[in-house]
Amino acid sequence: GKGAAMVTAVAYRLAAQHAERQRILDTLRLSREQLLEVKRRMSEEMVRGLSKQAHEQASVKMLPTYVRATPDGTEHGDFLALDLGGSSFRVLLVRVRSGKRHNVDMHHKIYTIPQETMQGTGEELFSHIVYCINDFLEYMGMSGASLPLGFTFSFPCHQSKLDEGILLRWTKGFKASGCEGQDVITLLKDAVRRRKEFDLSFVAVVNDTVGTMMTCSYEDPKCKVGLIVGTGTNACYMEEMQNIELVEGDDGCMCVNMEWGAFGDNGELDDFCTQFDRIVDDCSNNPGKQRYEKMISGMYLGEIVRNVLMDFTAKGLLFRGKLSERLKTRCIFETKFLSQIESDRLAMRQIRSILQHLGLTSSTCDDSVLVKEVCSLVSRRAAQLCGAGLAAVVDKIRQNRNLNQLSITVGVDGTLYKTHPHFSSIMQETLQDLAPQCQVTFHKSEDGSGKGAALITAVLTLHRMESEL
Ligand code: GLC
Repeated sequence: GKGAAMVTAVAYRLAAQHAERQRILDTLRLSREQLLEVKRRMSEEMVRGLSKQAHEQASVKMLPTYVRATPDGTEHGDFLALDLGGSSFRVLLVRVRSGKRHNVDMHHKIYTIPQETMQGTGEELFSHIVYCINDFLEYMGMSGASLPLGFTFSFPCHQSKLDEGILLRWTKGFKASGCEGQDVITLLKDAVRRRKEFDLSFVAVVNDTVGTMMTCSYEDPKCKVGLIVGTGTNACYMEEMQNIELVEGDDGCMCVNMEWGAFGDNGELDDFCTQFDRIVDDCSNNPGKQRYEKMISGMYLGEIVRNVLMDFTAKGLLFRGKLSERLKTRCIFETKFLSQIESDRLAMRQIRSILQHLGLTSSTCDDSVLVKEVCSLVSRRAAQLCGAGLAAVVDKIRQNRNLNQLSITVGVDGTLYKTHPHFSSIMQETLQDLAPQCQVTFHKSEDGSGKGAALITAVLTLHRMESEL
């Protein structure tokens, strides 16, 4: 009768809702074939980025870093290091002692960079940085000292030597004016000169990936790759000089800063993108740029999740169809919430309280299940994409050396990699599957970007002193 018809209607509606939910979730899944294709396209872009003729057009810039040697344990001295471009800005004093290996002492202080400074003029930004260095020297009782400085500057820079870095463009949240196209060392030195309180004797520019690789190779000589999965994502590795067409000379190796976050900027990822990725890209500081990074790193994953949840809600599949102001607010899902929601130890009730904490109050138990599923799919896809890129890198190193099997270490840093409960294991699984001829060990780096910058400065100042003797 009538009751049965109503039950059927409800059942139909539920089935239709379920199908719609699955259809949307499926767009976030990548097949093995798709991941192999990502690896293949990354390999292709790497070759293009290294080649003189294709470099201009290539999305992955493969920037020479002028880091050729890894530390051998003989370097020593006191160094300042700056770390700009990650989740916090730090000034460090690094004491490297020779003789015994791994003998590095560090002191640091974290400073905030106000939003207005990050998005103001370059002069304001660098004056603020110099103010922080000065404050740090006072704090360490070393006012007026003149030390060599390693500047970990985690943005794409064109280098023609270690102590120069022309900013190609800002990435992540930064957009201070008047810096793109400028040498950041000159900007820093000008700011030091304006302040007139201390001197810098020598400055090296170092990408965070390179610092991470250097720190790790100080302890493990098999480390030839550096990886960051934090606010942004990027990798570097030791490439044969003969393959680096942008630098003269064919002997030995040089570290290449891939700037792989820009992979996809020529459409290489369009086949795998969802509508949510396109919205996140459109609403970002740099639309059309850093497309791979926007599918992987901590600054964007929460935004992808939020956009999926908004779509579900608008379709009446979540939060009782009620689009709250809160859910419409950008950047409410920080990496740490994703990591919490996906923690296996959490009961659904706790997920609900996290959602409540985010101001998403009207959630039911089913909602919590769905939210968790969305988070898992988004972070799984990120880890798989990252693994596919890394597979291209280690296979290139293997082929460079003409080996059938390669055993290698990757130094890694970044808050997403370090705090997410599943990211690292999914990435490693994918890597093993897509690059079966490589045995890859991951080595988490402790404070790699600061220590690494100091080590690079140490290696370099030592060599300079030797050549002056
Ligand atoms: C962005 C920067 C890159 C950096 C990475 C990780 O992709 O462009 O230089 O290494 O973030 O911090």
